[in-house]
Amino acid sequence: MKLIKKIPVYNEREREGLRVAGRFNARLMDYLRPHVKEGVTTLELDKLAYEYTVGHGHVPACLGYLNYPRTICTSVNEVVCHGIPNNVPLKKGDIVNVDITSIVNGWYGDLSETFCIGEISQEAKHLVQTTFDALWVGIRSIEPFGMVRDIGRAISKFAHANGLSVVQEYQGHGIGRAFHQEPGIPHFEQDKGGRVRIEPGMCFTIEPMLNVGSWKTELDSSDGWTVRTIDRKLSAQFEHTILMTSKGPEIMTLTENGPREGAKLFA
Ligand code: MF3
Ligand code: CO
Ligand code: CO
Repeated sequence: MKLIKKIPVYNEREREGLRVAGRFNARLMDYLRPHVKEGVTTLELDKLAYEYTVGHGHVPACLGYLNYPRTICTSVNEVVCHGIPNNVPLKKGDIVNVDITSIVNGWYGDLSETFCIGEISQEAKHLVQTTFDALWVGIRSIEPFGMVRDIGRAISKFAHANGLSVVQEYQGHGIGRAFHQEPGIPHFEQDKGGRVRIEPGMCFTIEPMLNVGSWKTELDSSDGWTVRTIDRKLSAQFEHTILMTSKGPEIMTLTENGPREGAKLFA
């Protein structure tokens, strides 16, 4: 028997729930943005995120999720994703991805941005700009009734053309009343899989992780969460939550103060 994985298709009422949740998560990113500076610890950022979330009556999604210990993920330099906030101050030249997920009236929203601390290397600038652009290449690769695999194809083509590799072990995901659900959204091109049609009403994340060196990663066995590049070279990531509509993708997690589509981050 063929296993048919059910992908939720949301009606207008449900879409409104997703919009409200996406907007709240984007506001939280805007709130944190001025604090992501040299000298701040990622634990301090985590506390700000926790207090903002519960202060607005919402629920931090990561805290306690599979025993994850904090509210946000903060992935510095060679950390690919799921970095746990700690007591180490951010320093000049670091790049740090801040990944936020909170639950608003039962609905999830999920976004991340990579921030640069002071002046960063040319290599880091190229990585961060290309990863930011790769997210938008992914978003613009899809249309109603298009295929999930088109996203990974477009992103990996773009990354490789720019001399960067694409993480394979972690991917985007369907999202709604659950954090992670079908469909999986790979950011690389696949022979099989990804032959899923994106119908209006489906909601999912696109969250490419691009690396300067190898695409391969290593999970920290001591904390069970921190994912690093296998060669300890830099990795960056950007993420949005996307609702497909009959008119095309609608971005649930657009920020007010963050970089817009097409932005030149280092101009
Ligand atoms: N926000 C991450 C994602 O984009 C997931 C973090 S799960 C956690 O899917 F437990 F590490 F927080
Ligand atoms: Co996320
Ligand atoms: Co996500």
